[in-house]
Amino acid sequence: MRYLCSLMCVLVLAGCAGDTSSSSTSTSTLPPLANVQNGEAVFLSTCTSCHGEDARGIEGLGKPLAGSDFVAQSSESALVRLITFGRPASDPTNSTGIAMPARGGNPSLTEQSIRDVVAYLKSLN
Ligand code: HEC
Repeated sequence: MRYLCSLMCVLVLAGCAGDTSSSSTSTSTLPPLANVQNGEAVFLSTCTSCHGEDARGIEGLGKPLAGSDFVAQSSESALVRLITFGRPASDPTNSTGIAMPARGGNPSLTEQSIRDVVAYLKSLN
């Protein structure tokens, strides 16, 4: 009888544990939140050489991204796409004749880092 009771306790506990793990699986399918602080670190390491430390652009290298109508008006997903693929000088939307390199020229940038840098750019506008 005592054996049966402890067996049932184990089953009840196992049942609860099962519930917890299934609910944490469903939350992990939500898209990860962008992290502005990490985005700033990515910007400082990869983008400042052309866009400037204050993100106000460098003449002949990269356009201003702070106080930019383009950044303010573009959706986050459009900005992620632009940064991922770049904008070659031959692109009809290129306005300076200078290429914006894919991933800012840093192939090791992850998609999450790009989302983070977009969140940082949005925070400047
Ligand atoms: C080698 C120089 C260079 C680097 C490095 C670079 N960019 Fe650019 N970027 C450019 C140039 C040049 C343009 C302007 C292209 C044009 O004339 O349309 C541009 C344009 C952009 C635009 C569009 C601005 C607009 O008004 O159309 C965004 C957004 C952008 N860059 C983000 C980034 C981010 C984020 C990084 C770092 C991950 C980065 N860039 C790294 C050169 C660079």
